Amino acid sequence: MSRVLDVQSVDSGYGDVQVLDDLSLHLDEGEIACLVGPNGAGKSTVLKTVFGMLEPWTGSVMLGGRNIGGMAPEEIVRIGVGYVPQTENVFGSLTIDENLRMGGVARGDDLDPVIEELYDRFPILTEKKKAKARTLSGGQRQVLAFARALVMEPDVLLIDEPSAGLAPNTAAEVFEDVQTVNELGTSILMVEQNAREGLGISDRGYVLDQGTVEFEGDADSLLDDPEVSELYLGGGTRH
Ligand SMILES: Nc1ncnc2c1ncn2[C@@H]1O[C@H](COP(=O)(O)OP(=O)(O)O)[C@@H](O)[C@H]1O
Ligand SMILES: [Mg+2]
Repeated sequence: MSRVLDVQSVDSGYGDVQVLDDLSLHLDEGEIACLVGPNGAGKSTVLKTVFGMLEPWTGSVMLGGRNIGGMAPEEIVRIGVGYVPQTENVFGSLTIDENLRMGGVARGDDLDPVIEELYDRFPILTEKKKAKARTLSGGQRQVLAFARALVMEPDVLLIDEPSAGLAPNTAAEVFEDVQTVNELGTSILMVEQNAREGLGISDRGYVLDQGTVEFEGDADSLLDDPEVSELYLGGGTRH
């Protein structure tokens, strides 16, 4: 199994406030890996550090054979990494179509074929092509945010809490979309507060606490681990 992304011994943070402490994790080609853990554990900081919004203080972020640690996000997008932030991930005052086109500005080629493909894949976006993104429901907005990132046809997609603020049914639909994107060939590193559901659609998982990895393994084994369950999944076991 080849590693598409390999984060090795990274320290990172904001200004002089350290958040990530000797953090290592990786993403295998074709998988979904899920980062879970309490609020403030540093999950979003991991994605921001991989995407070049924060520079690692130490350690490396390998994409394929290349250390992308400290590269600018514009450059990281061009070499195959997409990022869907948790909030403000679409432009409300622009139409769905304009949002998708903005997602592809770095491509510099004809966007029509890839955007047509995305409309086929996500029919809800076709219906609302000319509507302003602010008129979308929370779930539809999340679909638009994925589609925007997919215009660049990334090999690796970083997704921060896709289910945040969504009703359970809508969250389930969004998780299905995450799986579909993965099945079509994109490796995904996803952060989820909703740990059971997130791990439920993932191949592997990491439990972060205070900026460091406390547990890692197959998603199923994390879900079945009594200690992980007790400390991080609200107790009980799954049915
Ligand atoms: N822009 C920022 N400036 C300073 N500190 C921040 C900033 N963003 C997050 N933090 C701090 O970094 C820590 C980890 O935050 P974050 O990565 O957002 O956690 P999580 O996504 O796991 O909830 C928290 O203590 C948070 O307060
Ligand atoms: Mg977060």
